[in-house]
Amino acid sequence: MPHVVVRTCVAALLVAACVAPPMRAQAPVSSVPPVNAPWMNQDLSPDQRADLVQAQMTPDEEFTLVRGYLGLDEIQNPIFPRPPKVIIDAFPHSAGYIPGIPRLGIPAQLETDASLGVANGRHMRPGDQATALPASLLTASAWNPDLAYDAGAMLGREVRAKGFNVLLNGGVDLERDPRNGRNFEYAGEDPLLAGTIAGEVIRGVQDQHVISTAKHYAMNDQEIGRDWLSANIDEKSMRESDLLAFEIAIERGRPGSIMCAYNRVNGVYACENDFLLNKVLKGDWQFPGYVMSDWGADHSTVEAANNGLDQESAYIFDNADYFGAGLRKAVADGKVSEARLHDMVHRILRSMFAHGLFDYPLSRKPLDVKADGDVAQRAAEEGITLLKNDRELLPLTGKARRIAVIGANADIGVLSGGGSSQVIPIGNDPSQEVLLGGAVVVREGKARIPLDRMIYDPPSPLSAIKAESRNARVRFDDGGDIQQAARLAKASDVAVVFVQQWQAEGTDMLGLNLPGDQDALVSAVAAANPHTIVVLENGGPVVMPWLSQVGAVLEAWYPGQRGAAAIARILFGKVNPSGHLAATFPQSVDQLPRPVIPGAGLEQPPQRWAGTPNLFDVNYTEGANVGYKWFAVRKLRPLFPFGFGLSYTTFGYGNLSASPGSAPTVTFDVRNTGQRAGKAVAQVYATPPGAVARLMGWSKIDLKPGASKHVTVTLDPRLLASFDTAAHVWRVAAGDYTISLGDSATSISSTTMLHLDESTIRP
Ligand code: BGC
Repeated sequence: MPHVVVRTCVAALLVAACVAPPMRAQAPVSSVPPVNAPWMNQDLSPDQRADLVQAQMTPDEEFTLVRGYLGLDEIQNPIFPRPPKVIIDAFPHSAGYIPGIPRLGIPAQLETDASLGVANGRHMRPGDQATALPASLLTASAWNPDLAYDAGAMLGREVRAKGFNVLLNGGVDLERDPRNGRNFEYAGEDPLLAGTIAGEVIRGVQDQHVISTAKHYAMNDQEIGRDWLSANIDEKSMRESDLLAFEIAIERGRPGSIMCAYNRVNGVYACENDFLLNKVLKGDWQFPGYVMSDWGADHSTVEAANNGLDQESAYIFDNADYFGAGLRKAVADGKVSEARLHDMVHRILRSMFAHGLFDYPLSRKPLDVKADGDVAQRAAEEGITLLKNDRELLPLTGKARRIAVIGANADIGVLSGGGSSQVIPIGNDPSQEVLLGGAVVVREGKARIPLDRMIYDPPSPLSAIKAESRNARVRFDDGGDIQQAARLAKASDVAVVFVQQWQAEGTDMLGLNLPGDQDALVSAVAAANPHTIVVLENGGPVVMPWLSQVGAVLEAWYPGQRGAAAIARILFGKVNPSGHLAATFPQSVDQLPRPVIPGAGLEQPPQRWAGTPNLFDVNYTEGANVGYKWFAVRKLRPLFPFGFGLSYTTFGYGNLSASPGSAPTVTFDVRNTGQRAGKAVAQVYATPPGAVARLMGWSKIDLKPGASKHVTVTLDPRLLASFDTAAHVWRVAAGDYTISLGDSATSISSTTMLHLDESTIRP
């Protein structure tokens, strides 16, 4: 299925940015704070310190902090003059830059993307590489908050080592559509899982003295027309779904900043949305940090400033000088109060103090490639998900003497997702890069025709499989000639077919089938060899018309820098898979709330400032029933349910009981009933009276064969409640709640009842 390429300003400008720029002298990465300045006293709170430094600032200096530059000079918007040379020289050569105030020791804010590693796809300086983590969707599939924290901490260390102090991380929009081109940057379809995993990554990042965002607030749930669509949903549903994911992520991660989204929400742009920014984020949730706009998501001065935007990012993407000359005039005219300007600046400074930007000045240093790669590998090994394993085809044993590896450039590397989060991985040798209209393919030393704009993280699965299989003869076929691939499969004991689906920011898939003739390739290989294993490298759920023909299926998503090793170690049993899906796999688009993506096919201008857009609506009539909840309401049977994942061992669940209280608890036992050590993901769901089941908590438990563990899961009452918009409270209804224990949303091994009295919780 072809991609729809939506030419947003960012996507179009990225191409221009993909030409390697001339090297410039490095500017100092941050100002040195005056040692004796009162605001350098770490015994004071971030708010007190922000007050002290702010009292010294001139109005000009305050305006400096609320408007960001794109951290590149290659891109021009005819509306704006070029920035002064002194600013251009200081650009971090990445996503964004806000100058510091050297006389007060206020450091510059040096911003980089994103959640999957330090993204450098935009600047492509020779030799500038970072450790590519697995896709966030894969990290979520590990159901392991500690691992998510470790991934975040590794990311934060690389961010600082590369000279940045603000990370545009923390994608937490829910997967409402498996075709959304950015699902791989998000953490799945459930608010508790997504909020927990994104929150832990943010916490890990910020513990390294880096500000992290959570993004894209809110309802940025499709890419097609993201600048022009209005995501329409009632408040109650939004509070119980996408906003709840943000609420949980913010509670756990305490991000210094929130990035507001491109889209409108109920008709109002997210970056000037009083309900989202002032009422919910800063009001109900008491968020003390600052709101930055996504790149080109600011649409006004007065509305944005008064409705909660604190910092305009990369103004060059916007239609006017909103927070530059525009804001100065609005403050002079009294349309934006001075108090509001002070509040904007206070919030920015407060986050800079709270997250160590003053106390830990930046200094670049080499990456610890080995240690960081190990973190990426652990994440991949825990998140890769085994979806099918007939007659214990996996793990592969020494009996397989002839192994065919087929397709998806498995002789080059593993696929990564595209867009602003694109990492140029470690091992990228610039002399082996192939640029094709902005494309880079990282190769393992031999000539190859690259696919447009797809980046493969080395090393290759082929080499990893060879390393693991020792005495077997491993042969590769690129899958281009289906019959030839089938012949190789027939002449082999086992065929491992790699298939791929490239997803990217600014684009959505239109359907759920793998692109090109890969479905036919898998069928032909499976017909030739009953021992066919499919390894998927994809950004979101796909359909598998060949599922009944193949012996095993391994969902590897975009597995990152050490993905090849992780896949091979799972295939050969060195690692027992323990990933569980963070999103439902539908059987077809007909099962989705919107079989056709709204806005698909609508002509849109290539850049914000170049034409009249076609505004349109996306009506989220499924409300809070996202993913598995939609399937439950509609009584639909998915291809694979949310929470599903197999292991090379088996687990038994029992002794389930639940106790009421202000934070009810559920206890149960898990036993490893198989022959191998492995990790169970025991999931607790609750079904409130008259509603469908919701994930309430889980535990990932590492057990030796025969071992068991008693587990307690504490339930967050908000997840049991519904949001009462009139009374402005979460309301837990009195009644009997079914508590279910299982290893997916649909495979429930035991249930019990929990009686709760009515209660309310303030948001
Ligand atoms: C993306 C953001 C990203 C920003 C800066 C935008 O296109 O939506 O996620 O952080 O660019 O690169």
